[in-house]
Amino acid sequence: MQVLILGSGGRENAFAWKIAQSPLCTHIWIAPGNAGTMKFGTNVAINPLDFAAVKQLVLDKEIGLVLVGPEEPLVNGIRDYFQSDVALIDVALIGPSKEGAQLEGSKAYAKTFMMECGIPTAAYREFSFNTMAEGLAYLEDHEMPVVLKADGLAAGKGVLICVSKTEAQTELKAMLEGKFGQASSKVVIEQFLSGIEFSVFALTDGKNYQLLPVAKDYKRVGEGDTGLNTGGMGAVSPVPFVDKALMDKVEEQIIRPTVACLQRRGIAYNGFIFFGLILVGQDPFVIEYNCRMGDPETEAVLPRMQNDLLKALLAVDQGTIDQEIMIEDPRFATTIMLVSGGYPGHYSNGKLMEIPAEEGDTMHFHSGTIISGTDIVTNGGRVLAVTALGDTIPQALAKANRIALQVQFEGKNYRKDIGLDLSSI
Ligand code: AMP
Ligand code: GLY
Repeated sequence: MQVLILGSGGRENAFAWKIAQSPLCTHIWIAPGNAGTMKFGTNVAINPLDFAAVKQLVLDKEIGLVLVGPEEPLVNGIRDYFQSDVALIDVALIGPSKEGAQLEGSKAYAKTFMMECGIPTAAYREFSFNTMAEGLAYLEDHEMPVVLKADGLAAGKGVLICVSKTEAQTELKAMLEGKFGQASSKVVIEQFLSGIEFSVFALTDGKNYQLLPVAKDYKRVGEGDTGLNTGGMGAVSPVPFVDKALMDKVEEQIIRPTVACLQRRGIAYNGFIFFGLILVGQDPFVIEYNCRMGDPETEAVLPRMQNDLLKALLAVDQGTIDQEIMIEDPRFATTIMLVSGGYPGHYSNGKLMEIPAEEGDTMHFHSGTIISGTDIVTNGGRVLAVTALGDTIPQALAKANRIALQVQFEGKNYRKDIGLDLSSI
């Protein structure tokens, strides 16, 4: 089978690496891909948001399965586009319908869904420009800190945690007046939850699901979880504090009700559900849903997945995911993201890279890289994810840190404390 992966990050590089191992795979196409995905297939300079160009590629190359990496094509309805075209109807597309993708595309939609489906999440209210006065009044009596979320996609920047009433009111006004453009034309005001976060991933065919390895992501740019939010600076899988008792609760209170509620509502969902969870005391709550895999969590999760990913994706398409058996490598995977100096603020591209050869149990997944002549140069804020496997977190970290040190490019920055909070294991 010919496979097309849409996207250009470390997640897509990890998907290509994993799918290339499947005996079912004859060739991988990546649109647009990066310097790392080229090792596993052919990069095609197509924007995943250009559905007509994606269609042409699928037909030209007789592609049987399309794996959608990022959220935007899903939120824009790429699944619905495929379903409504007779030429594409038989192509397996991994990702939910436009409505299913609203779980990520609209925070207000996701909150309403959780409330109506009885899924534990922080208390909230939703306001628009027309109800700004009510929103400001609501904040008068709200306990601090409080969380303000732009309703729509805002490239990970649309969530603000405000510590004072004045700050919250100023920000609410700015957001409703267009601070994040159309994405903040609606704002969710949410109770602040204090706890430790972790990420759970389900592969669902809309009726049943299988779980992938659990991961923890490190979102802030600075060590000790300080500084600005990023797409993710590193990840660890599995997460020692997520034991069987907690996973049982997560499945019973969150995952099963989510899948059942999607099915009850007739929402076509053949793809990944990413549950961004927080453990408050003994209880898990949903912070957010995403309609895709996480990045860099994928780079830590897939190296631990021992079964054939392409086979599992075909089962997702065919509605037989219940028959898959997921097998996890018992070892720990740690992923360190090397980023451009200045990221998540201003940074420059085009820095020449020197990347050492991969050694046993380590993998390099390119995030923001491109080929320039015969060189690999940087081409993004997040540049390269280095993953290592080890019997313990410190063993895995020692390997990943050694490679992180060896990779060279001007301005290289990375967190030296990924996984240390979990490292007593
Ligand atoms: P989101 O884009 O919804 O994942 O939010 C980004 C980050 O903001 C999360 O990973 C959390 O660290 C934080 N956050 C979001 N909602 C809450 C909340 N209700 N309580 C505490 N922290 C939150
Ligand atoms: N690492 C978080 C995300 O992919 O949204």
